Amino acid sequence: MAAMRVEANAKLNLTLDVLGRRPDGYHDMRMIMQSVELADLLDITRSGSGELRVSTNLHFLPNNAKNLAAQAALRWWEAQGNASQGLDITIDKHIPVCAGMAGGSSDAAAVLRALNELEGAGLSPAQLARIGERVGSDVPYCVTGGTALAEGRGEVLTPLPPLPPCWVVLCKPEFSISTPALFAKIDSVKLRCRPDTQGVIAALEEQDLVGVARRMYNVFEDALPERQRSRVNDIKNVLIQCGALGASMSGTGPTAFGLFDSEALAREAQERLTGVGGEVFLTRTV
Ligand code: C5P
Repeated sequence: MAAMRVEANAKLNLTLDVLGRRPDGYHDMRMIMQSVELADLLDITRSGSGELRVSTNLHFLPNNAKNLAAQAALRWWEAQGNASQGLDITIDKHIPVCAGMAGGSSDAAAVLRALNELEGAGLSPAQLARIGERVGSDVPYCVTGGTALAEGRGEVLTPLPPLPPCWVVLCKPEFSISTPALFAKIDSVKLRCRPDTQGVIAALEEQDLVGVARRMYNVFEDALPERQRSRVNDIKNVLIQCGALGASMSGTGPTAFGLFDSEALAREAQERLTGVGGEVFLTRTV
């Protein structure tokens, strides 16, 4: 096989807790991840050029080794003990960028899955995840996606029962957040509240969508600068007013999202938020 098209799904955090800073500078996490249908589309083609080329439909994204998709290919060849080979990666971005939705990590995971197929290497998802963790903390989760508990840096994964199917409305406000800056800030912030991770796991086991939605929480909301926190809160309030079962922020933000059991209510929320600004999407869980 010489070419493949793969989807790279976005993720949301149903919960996100930061347990503490580690000696290696990373933080220990405890978070429940959920994939959604919103996805980037990647065309991956083996070429005779000997070069690794990345292009995207967004002019401001790196088209060199800084792009996580390219890093994934380089780490792949390193792990296989091969020199880099000719590869063209074309990314059609749909997932908002710098939004807390693992867009770049998901692209990287998609490249690993595609190279595994194209080269007939037959690596297991766990082996792909081990390569992926060298690209970024969210990449191991993105290799398989679904509903999972992520611990450690994010690479220690436990599959969970799937979230009952629902509609998701999400809104990425106009500003972006620096992940390293927010991680640095969280060390000095007094957290007002922690997510009930165990309660969400119990609700997933009972397939209780309302029980999950009501317990969603992300500690990074407390670390946002005041104006940004208030914008995220405004979005969450609109979602709840429109009938969301619960609303939270994803990752280090600033995307806020709500879960709906009614498509009509979700469409109403999408319309109301579209009038307010930012990038708004209606999607479903995977
Ligand atoms: O792993 P990744 O490259 O995505 O992480 C980006 C940055 O986020 C790290 O350099 C670190 O500052 C922060 N981070 C962290 N703890 C984690 C994951 C990320 O402190 N578990």
